[in-house]
Amino acid sequence: MVTARKEAALTMRKTDVVLEVLDARVPFSSCNPMVEALRRENQRPALKVLNKSDIADAERTRKWLAYYNAQPGVQALALSAKHVAAVQRIPERALALAPHRSTALKPLRIMILGIPNVGKSTLMNALLRRSVTKVGNEPAVTKSQHGHKLGKNMWLIDTPGLGWPHLEQVSAYKLAATHSIGPNAYDPVEVAAELARYLLQHYAQAVLSRFPALSAPESALDPIAAIALGRSLLLKGGTPDRERAARVLLGEFRDGTLGAMSLETPDASG
Ligand code: G4P
Repeated sequence: MVTARKEAALTMRKTDVVLEVLDARVPFSSCNPMVEALRRENQRPALKVLNKSDIADAERTRKWLAYYNAQPGVQALALSAKHVAAVQRIPERALALAPHRSTALKPLRIMILGIPNVGKSTLMNALLRRSVTKVGNEPAVTKSQHGHKLGKNMWLIDTPGLGWPHLEQVSAYKLAATHSIGPNAYDPVEVAAELARYLLQHYAQAVLSRFPALSAPESALDPIAAIALGRSLLLKGGTPDRERAARVLLGEFRDGTLGAMSLETPDASG
């Protein structure tokens, strides 16, 4: 982790623009605070890509864009990395943040960063129009960092494996819900219960149309048991299978079946 941070710091110094991939549903929680601190220390401009905007709340995404675009040296772009055409806008937007670069002598160096599962690989594949994981012939910037030629005078530098030092409990549940934290690191029933409460408060109609059992007053105490009973997910003896119910709710949220929803707003009230 310390080594990764040192490597990131070194790369940051040789970088013109930081391309930060965020999950549009949780832009605050999917930002690595260590990286943001490094970027500010080094006074590098940032292009914040709000990825997965196809499954995020469009109104909230608009607010996030306004929030980031009001910050000096920051530009934000909402897109889906699965739409190759949208991704092609990135190089031009990055160049606008460092217009003095992009010559043979001074190529534009873009450092791409993102916590797990925000869609960084999908975005890189779309940006480079090839599968990055299958490319073996790329120059290494350091032992674990790779440079990919993005255009005539443009390089994309990938920095894998950066964790983040402090994870607030509230972010932890959101990152588990969006799958940025692996299933071995959390209790799915707890995460799903937290998610159910949030969605009932902010997206009641959409959630109740998929899980009507959540409208029963007694479900407030144990929403996941209510979902299990409502969907007939039962263990032997008829007790609610809360683990399976949790997976169902998390799955429907993650793949957008529940609708386009976000778990954060920039004013921190959401
Ligand atoms: P990472 O490198 O940041 O770890 O993320 P990766 O690209 O592997 O993407 C993680 C998951 O997010 C993948 O889903 C990928 O398809 C999905 N994803 C990436 N970008 C978008 C987007 O803009 N919109 C939506 N809806 N999904 C996106 P997966 O479940 O692992 O695989 P798949 O079955 O969806 O391919």
